[in-house]
Amino acid sequence: MREIKTIGVMTSGGDCAGLNAVIRAVTTAAVERYGWKVYGIQDGSMGLISRPLRFQELSPANLGNTLREGGTFLGTTNKGDPFNFPMPDGSFRDLSGEFAEGARMLGLDALVVVGGDGSMRILSRLCQQAGLGMVGVPKTIDNDVHGTEYAVGFATSINVVTEALDRLQPTAASHHRVMILEVMGRDAGHIAINAGIAGGADVVLVPEIPYTLDGVAGKIRSVLARGRTHALVVVAEGVKTAEGTNATISHVGGEQRYGGIGHYLTQKIADLTGAETRVTILGHVQRGGTPSTRDRILASAFGTHAVDLVAERRFHHMVGWQNRGVVAVPLEKVTIGACSLDPNDTLVRTARSLGVYVGEEPAADAGDSSGL
Ligand code: F6P
Repeated sequence: MREIKTIGVMTSGGDCAGLNAVIRAVTTAAVERYGWKVYGIQDGSMGLISRPLRFQELSPANLGNTLREGGTFLGTTNKGDPFNFPMPDGSFRDLSGEFAEGARMLGLDALVVVGGDGSMRILSRLCQQAGLGMVGVPKTIDNDVHGTEYAVGFATSINVVTEALDRLQPTAASHHRVMILEVMGRDAGHIAINAGIAGGADVVLVPEIPYTLDGVAGKIRSVLARGRTHALVVVAEGVKTAEGTNATISHVGGEQRYGGIGHYLTQKIADLTGAETRVTILGHVQRGGTPSTRDRILASAFGTHAVDLVAERRFHHMVGWQNRGVVAVPLEKVTIGACSLDPNDTLVRTARSLGVYVGEEPAADAGDSSGL
């Protein structure tokens, strides 16, 4: 068995707060504890695919203030699958061979990948094909990675959303308005439900739970009827319109992203309730900024444990947080898709008990009526 001497670390997918803290933890543990060389791979898999290779040697001495800094100083990418990569001439190419060759050129014995569920899926395939041992570290503000209760970046993002609600509430109260806040999360409602509870929202809409406009309007009317002259609504970007379509935005290069459901809802609530409404779309503010205490701790625990897994050669695993500690999760259990919010989740029930409208409640007799 080849001795581990050199490892790579890369960030892949959308950025979030706490990525630099993971890179710092991986580098410090690998260099100080195991005496390995560490290469930071730039811009996700592109660093190994590009020629010349894009990388930098990392050492605890050149990490600076990374524990405290948002973003990722290595850069990242959340577009272009290397197995089917869009070329400038409109064709698609399989660049997995270039990835494997790049890893060989750097003499990598293992790779730590900090990414979400999509990155785990693609990078685990790339690494397997390259014969390179991989250990994953989960990160995403969406918190939709299987095998871990928390992903790096989530805690900071829900702090940001909660603070936004704290800032919206006084202006809503002053003007007697209904404020609609659209938050990220892709197809999952974890950000919306967590921050909606913490920020005292009256309505929280998530992609996983069907809602009706009458239900939303009814909740707003009952808030106003009780004498409160304002209300707060949180809507996750992946929520569909009542007609069943997603609101999306096309970006340069043809990238489609969710966005705009807040505007739709703002108009509908105004029409149905007569209330004055305003919309805020929080966007990438949720991804940037200084990592929270929780994210720094999680990033540090994940980064150091990922290095331990490399030392133990427990490749093809991701570190995860379960029951107050770090565990190793086989990547097969992670790459099954995004982990959505369970409609019966503790926090959904918490919100309902607090009187929040979270979409339609399942009928009391909603069991299996097939008789089988
Ligand atoms: O997955 C993280 C995320 O921020 C989602 O919540 C959001 O839908 C998406 O990325 C936005 O992607 P982009 O940075 O490409 O606009």
